[in-house]
Amino acid sequence: MYDMILKGGTCATLAGIVKTDVAIKNGKIAAIGNIDVSKAEQVMDVTGLHVLPGVIDSQVHFREPGLEHKEDLATGTAGAALGGVTAVFEMPNTKPSTITAKDMADKCRRAKDRVWTDIAFFVGAAAENVENLPELEREQGVSGVKIFMGSSTGSLLVKDDATLARVLASGNRRVAVHCEDEDRLEERFELVRGGAPVSMHAQWRDAETAVRATTRLLKIAKGVKRRVHILHVTTADEMEILPQYRDIATVECTPQHLTLNDEAYDRIGTRAQMNPPIRSQHHVDALWEALNQGVVDCIGSDHAPHTLEEKAAPYPNSPSGMTGVQTLVPIMLNHVNQGRLSLERFVDLTSAGPCRIYNVASKGRIAKGYDADFTIVDLKAERTITDKWIASRCGWTPYDGMKVTGWPMSTIVRGNVVMHEGELIGDPLGTAVRFAECL
Ligand code: DOR
Repeated sequence: MYDMILKGGTCATLAGIVKTDVAIKNGKIAAIGNIDVSKAEQVMDVTGLHVLPGVIDSQVHFREPGLEHKEDLATGTAGAALGGVTAVFEMPNTKPSTITAKDMADKCRRAKDRVWTDIAFFVGAAAENVENLPELEREQGVSGVKIFMGSSTGSLLVKDDATLARVLASGNRRVAVHCEDEDRLEERFELVRGGAPVSMHAQWRDAETAVRATTRLLKIAKGVKRRVHILHVTTADEMEILPQYRDIATVECTPQHLTLNDEAYDRIGTRAQMNPPIRSQHHVDALWEALNQGVVDCIGSDHAPHTLEEKAAPYPNSPSGMTGVQTLVPIMLNHVNQGRLSLERFVDLTSAGPCRIYNVASKGRIAKGYDADFTIVDLKAERTITDKWIASRCGWTPYDGMKVTGWPMSTIVRGNVVMHEGELIGDPLGTAVRFAECL
């Protein structure tokens, strides 16, 4: 007997997108094929729906500990589950920053019995923890090391080449990096100091700021033979350089950099402010070209909640970041419906991609023995994204009022239905994501 059968759906299998059933037993995928409904205790009729491997959002900021007025692990993962996401990797710029084994243990303890999806945490790189990184990156529940080359929310920063080289030489797993050049950010801050229109954000943190950091990083990483993952790439220029580093570098794009352009500053003000910035259509087009050329390895949301009160501060005192974990699936499915990418490529970018980049153990594909994580979507559902729908404590989205086609209908985490037709179900039973390099 199986625990559950997903019956009658169209399923993104390794053999292609085909009509087939999937059976689940003990939280794992137990069989794929035409499966007799009498063989299960529970049958979910998914006729007319697409059954995709669980979407993994490999870049979210959930603010706990220390900034829970913006978000916490429960609200952040509730948004993830409502948006069809089955696992998240959370960033270290909390308060305190996650830089010691004690900080990491604290985050894992806080996650217990409170998270709706599976979860892993990044450890932040800082001058003071360089020696400990090889040990820290192997702790249970750790997705890897994160470097901020330019300052953003929080105090984490690895600004100079010497420290960057030390961090990259310290450890083995792939390192995730925010590439903006701190020296150039400091030099150019004069452009916005004392007040400026928020549209100046993309002038202050210009394309050259991103290109310089990415170039410095790639050279040093190549020299010390360390694998890196370039987070939220935003420029045409970086997309020209990155294909030359396919051996050591993987690439992330965010839904917002693929969807919004600099027109958003006038339309939604500081809601559009994030780092690296939303840029001109020239760059947006280049990101799509790179995505379709296979240069992009995954989509991460960079979910970075701040309250609307905080966002109301006059620029540049307004904080950078926007929500995104709940809207990643609908926004990207809307792009699928508009013909910008195939459903197969969506699956590659949101499930297989993160697993390949970070060596996730037994997730990211619909295959016997893998975790029974599923994002079940209705490709034809037309909905409007609204602030009201957003479960994040900060309660807003840059896409408020946007009509989309394609919507997550159910989220299944290791065989447990945690979201069905817009409602959270049962208890938060998320657990630590496992990685092949530290089983
Ligand atoms: O806009 C951003 N917000 N970019 C980052 O790198 C950090 C994030 C945050 O944590 O607010």
